[in-house]
Amino acid sequence: MTFLVTDACIKCKYMDCVEVCPVDCFYEGENMLVIDPDICIDCGVCEPECPPEAIKPDTERGLEQWLTLNADYSKKWPNITRKGTPPADAKEFDGMPGKFEKFFSDKPGTGS
Ligand code: SF4
Ligand code: F3S
Repeated sequence: MTFLVTDACIKCKYMDCVEVCPVDCFYEGENMLVIDPDICIDCGVCEPECPPEAIKPDTERGLEQWLTLNADYSKKWPNITRKGTPPADAKEFDGMPGKFEKFFSDKPGTGS
């Protein structure tokens, strides 16, 4: 079992999650983060820290797409362990449906 980042993170990218993860298993894309399912110890402390509720346990139904995306991109994007500056317009995207189709970017972030 693992926790996963879902599309609610896209273009919000608040990064409160990275500050609390005891095993530093977040990886940074251009406009979202993912979790490495192989490293996550399933502690759950990141889940309530995320303002748009983008982090979910993989025991929830219908998250197969996000498990694949987290597993794939955690191998491609750089590790992030410190909270950076969230996008200035993050609030505008908080709660918006269909963000994956509109805005997903496979480009890496800078990591930290
Ligand atoms: Fe890190 Fe725990 Fe969240 Fe997994 S559940 S990503 S180990 S804080
Ligand atoms: Fe994304 Fe939430 Fe972390 S918006 S960066 S999963 S705090």
